[in-house]
Amino acid sequence: DTHRTQDRREEPLDGGPELGDPALPTVPGRFRNTPDTDVSVRANHLWAGQITHRIRCSTLGTDEAEAARVDTLEGVDAAITAALEAQRSWAALGTEKRALLLRRAARVLAAHRAELLEVMASETGKTLAQGDAEVSEAIDFALYYAEQAERLERHGELSLAPRPLTLVTPPWNFPLAIPTGGTLAALVTGSAVIMKPAPQARRTGALIGALLHQAGIPEHVLTLIDVPEDEVGRALITDPRIDQLILTGAYDTASLFSSWRPSLRVLAETSGKNAIIVTPQADLDLAAKDVADSAFGHAGQKCSAASLVITVGSVSRSRRFNAQLADAVLSLHVGEPLDPTVQMGPIIEPPGEKLLSGLTELGEGESWLAEPRQLDDSGRLWSPGVRVGVREGSAFHLTEYFGPVLGVIHADTLEDAVRIQNGTDYGLTAGLHSLDPAEIAWWTEHVEAGNLYINRGITGAIVQRQPFGGWKRSAIGQTSKAGGPHYLVHLQDLADSPAVP
Ligand code: ALA
Repeated sequence: DTHRTQDRREEPLDGGPELGDPALPTVPGRFRNTPDTDVSVRANHLWAGQITHRIRCSTLGTDEAEAARVDTLEGVDAAITAALEAQRSWAALGTEKRALLLRRAARVLAAHRAELLEVMASETGKTLAQGDAEVSEAIDFALYYAEQAERLERHGELSLAPRPLTLVTPPWNFPLAIPTGGTLAALVTGSAVIMKPAPQARRTGALIGALLHQAGIPEHVLTLIDVPEDEVGRALITDPRIDQLILTGAYDTASLFSSWRPSLRVLAETSGKNAIIVTPQADLDLAAKDVADSAFGHAGQKCSAASLVITVGSVSRSRRFNAQLADAVLSLHVGEPLDPTVQMGPIIEPPGEKLLSGLTELGEGESWLAEPRQLDDSGRLWSPGVRVGVREGSAFHLTEYFGPVLGVIHADTLEDAVRIQNGTDYGLTAGLHSLDPAEIAWWTEHVEAGNLYINRGITGAIVQRQPFGGWKRSAIGQTSKAGGPHYLVHLQDLADSPAVP
């Protein structure tokens, strides 16, 4: 990887006069991670002491960047018609030039890191360190899909018909990397894209649109539209000219959209209820830190977040792990996301009924290791909560809360732990902390989840190294993982595409 990244830095980027020259600085080639580094750690080093200044000096005012609001059925119809018209010359442009534009998009994103961090923090409460990792992930997607498109083209696999029009509906919690990844993947295959940002992350979505257009992606080839979630939004999703929908969000939302138009090809990455198992063979210090990071990064509002830790055998009885975990959790600095020292920011909105019950009501046999407290009048700032004594089959075991609350479940054996880990409706991420090769092998064989992590946190999948996608209710119609080698192939019009379930 390091070698290839070096090569990439030397690549000529002149794509010919028709593509223009955005005159941007060279991408410094640090965005593809190597196995012994961690993107968020490097991000912290880069930004400490500089971030506030850079945000103040941002050049592209995000207040002005607005996605076009489309409130009418005629507006939706016009956007689709214009996209399809523009798609013809986009498809004719060829893979090589489209890939070049993705590489330019990577540069533009890198050059606007500060604005992207500011807008994500102010709209979604994302901390600067988490936002910085997300900008890097978006850049990784751009570079990786460019490289994959070229590879597939060389092997004759990207010469099939592109699906003309892809709709991308991203979530608010990864308002940059997820829409950028889905959009650029579809674009590089020759599809036009309509992207509808999450209502909570409109300015982030608009800024992505402005930056990708600045990189040279033509206006109607990529359309950012902000539609209300009423009959106008429904008209967009159900329009038969939309060939496929790349959706990330709740399982119920994806199911609803599929039911509106059963013939719509949906590639959805949905909910999760993810657990990390810690066995007596684990490095407990590392496990406690990884559990805290996975549970409370972005205040637990990641589909990949750990909301359960399953302690095996003596790990539960010794009390040592719980003490380490309490230390790791209670020392997290909670506050406003634009403060570079803050590790956990606010939740997106005051907790609804479900999350509030997760934060305040204990189930039978449960007690607080760290009791969540509301820290200000907004209702959005909470200290992290950890409940111990969670029982298999209880509400806390089975429900996705999507907030800063973690449950600890005891299991007698690794087999019991895996049964508990597999016992939910979901199967997105799963973790094991153990240094025993036999335990690792057994667990890998038996766990039911899309992304498995051993002796590492379970969030922050790295493009190419950890292609991302789930099992069971964590996905609908996803035939391949985002950030992996098969993703682009499955966005095309393959005769043998599997039917949407
Ligand atoms: N891809 C995101 C992660 O891995 C959701 O955390």
